[in-house]
Amino acid sequence: MTDPPHAWAPATAGAGTRRFPGTQGYADQAAILIDLYEGLDFAHTYAVILPLLPTRRSRILDIGAGTGRDAACFAARGHSVTAVEPTEAFRAAGKRLHPDPAIDWIDDGLPTLHRVRAQGLRYDLVWMSGVWMHLDPAERRQAMPAVAGLLAPGGRMLITLRHGPVPAGRRMFPVTDWETIALAEDAGVRPILQTHRPSIGTANRQAGVTWTWLIFDRAD
Ligand SMILES: C[S@@+](CC[C@H](N)C(=O)[O-])C[C@H]1O[C@@H](n2cnc3c(N)ncnc32)[C@H](O)[C@@H]1O
Repeated sequence: MTDPPHAWAPATAGAGTRRFPGTQGYADQAAILIDLYEGLDFAHTYAVILPLLPTRRSRILDIGAGTGRDAACFAARGHSVTAVEPTEAFRAAGKRLHPDPAIDWIDDGLPTLHRVRAQGLRYDLVWMSGVWMHLDPAERRQAMPAVAGLLAPGGRMLITLRHGPVPAGRRMFPVTDWETIALAEDAGVRPILQTHRPSIGTANRQAGVTWTWLIFDRAD
């Protein structure tokens, strides 16, 4: 059975938008965004948190993986990566650009992560870069325990929050650090890092886009 489309989904929206409203606008702009995402350098972008990333071989879950830029860097460092991406155009580009057997692509998304959870795996690092603000408040409340439940003992989680003007055609919500930390603590993960960053991209920086980066550890 097919899910009914959401009232605000654009006519050109694909199955990803119907199932995961937060993907709204991505399929239409995929050609431009693929180049944009791939143009970011992992080590430069995440320089300040590199010391907090796993060094031993780990299982990593990249949710809202986009083109798999970060997934590919994790795979190149010897980790096995599950890249979750509901936008078909990004998944296809990711498989083509980063054909690494250490990356397992899954068509799934927040807040439920049904397919990921059905695999019954636990992850040493859950990576959510640029995705959490696509969830509305109810979705965020549902997603946090689902994601926290996927962490292995000692597991770590990154969430980045985008603040500022919403790009045309996209679905984003204002999200605070404090709400995110409170939801995480309720789900059994505690913050170990909270930092505010300007946007890396020049256009976004000039438009006043800023980011919060949060890193959490499973409380046990
Ligand atoms: C700003 S992009 C970030 C992509 C990638 N993480 C990066 O840093 O380049 C946001 C991504 O989240 C995905 N997305 C949107 N809603 C989602 C949801 N409900 N669950 C999982 N991914 C979602 C989009 O398809 C898109 O790939």
